[in-house]
Amino acid sequence: MQVVILPTAAEVGRIAAAKVASVIQRRPDAVLGLATGSSPLAIYADLAERVRSGALRVDAVRAFALDEYVGLPLDHPESYHSVIRRTVTKPVGLAPGLVHVPDGAAADLDAAAADYETAIRDAGGVDVQILGIGANGHIGFNEPTSSFASRTRIKTLAPRTRADNARFFASPDDVPRHCVTQGLGTILDARELVLVATGPAKADAVHAMVEGPLSSMCPGSALQLHPHAMVVVDEAAAARL
Ligand code: GLP
Repeated sequence: MQVVILPTAAEVGRIAAAKVASVIQRRPDAVLGLATGSSPLAIYADLAERVRSGALRVDAVRAFALDEYVGLPLDHPESYHSVIRRTVTKPVGLAPGLVHVPDGAAADLDAAAADYETAIRDAGGVDVQILGIGANGHIGFNEPTSSFASRTRIKTLAPRTRADNARFFASPDDVPRHCVTQGLGTILDARELVLVATGPAKADAVHAMVEGPLSSMCPGSALQLHPHAMVVVDEAAAARL
């Protein structure tokens, strides 16, 4: 695992985006793995700027998001379908037809999750997976106790995650209780991983991910198993390293 510690959150976004951009430059139809949350927003803003300036072309880039809530209509502003469209697809200029998000509104969620795995495999796998980390160590929505071998499936959100995400909803009760998420096994199949974390609230999770034992209690520690994992953090998130 390569750990890069930088003075500011802005630099974290810039260095992580440079990594993603280099993958796209090498392979114009690269398959990106997309994460939601505030942490990767600086990456998407940086990529959007590179595209605007003509330094990067993304018309052939394909993408698969990590996760989605169960039970929200796809056009709900906080569904990850909407969030990915608003924060990634539109600003970066990805082709909407090439961006995929798990279906949390499917009648048969197990079948939809299995289809998502097949779609990733048929695309040739993910070239570079962008990740954030939850304060409890989750990646995607793989909450503590998730199996390192898990594939895309339905999960129950941890109370801490629901509380952390309540800021996006009118009331804490409105936060969905379930989600569909790529598994840790799915994430580990990506050829490269780039995880970003900033701020003091992530210091414990970053410590457990980087220096703690390999443990399903910190799903992020699965990155220790990956041969090409880059963790980019600011000094606040690195405080316990
Ligand atoms: C969310 C997402 C994760 C994200 C994490 C941290 O619930 N499912 O993919 O990494 O929580 O979010 P943030 O970056 O806003 O702290």
